[in-house]
Amino acid sequence: MKEKVVNGSESCVQSAKTALIRQIYRVQAMDFASAGEISGKIKNILKQLGVNGEMIRRAAIASYEAEMNLVIHSWGGSLIFVVTPEEIQIITQDTGPGIPDIDLAMQEGYSTASDQARELGFGAGMGLPNIQRCSDRVEISSKEGQGTTLKISFFL
Ligand SMILES: Nc1ncnc2c1ncn2[C@@H]1O[C@H](COP(=O)(O)OP(=O)(O)OP(=O)(O)O)[C@@H](O)[C@H]1O
Ligand SMILES: [Mg+2]
Repeated sequence: MKEKVVNGSESCVQSAKTALIRQIYRVQAMDFASAGEISGKIKNILKQLGVNGEMIRRAAIASYEAEMNLVIHSWGGSLIFVVTPEEIQIITQDTGPGIPDIDLAMQEGYSTASDQARELGFGAGMGLPNIQRCSDRVEISSKEGQGTTLKISFFL
């Protein structure tokens, strides 16, 4: 079942007790050199856990898009990767300008990416729609001028 929850109340990160994996990665604003490293690490961990290839592919796409949104749009933050027996969670928390209109940001083609990001090939406005498409549940909460929390879930 696919659920879409935008503007959802920020739900709790799975408690350490039931989590099989819980990793926190720092993401620096404008750090294009490290782009994609985190999704590579997540891919390897999921492979080692024996998660099926299609699920790994979906989680890798979502984590890459989420990571890049922190690089491009935020002032920095963290990506938290959690695996429990029931689900994979990818959560980003950042400080930054926030997303004033989440429904608009979820639309294909909407982007406020800088010229620098566009020169590097980002800014098609496809990241959030892709995350939505390849995951089972997306929750976004954001405060303008403060930051954004994005929680992506994949049901195992
Ligand atoms: N973490 C964030 N902080 C602030 N704004 C964000 C964040 N993530 C997304 N946004 C806003 O939502 C818009 C749409 O995001 P989306 O990922 O779909 O596209 P994009 O990042 O602009 O381009 P692409 O992902 O195709 O390179 C962004 O242009 C930006 O305005
Ligand atoms: Mg993006």
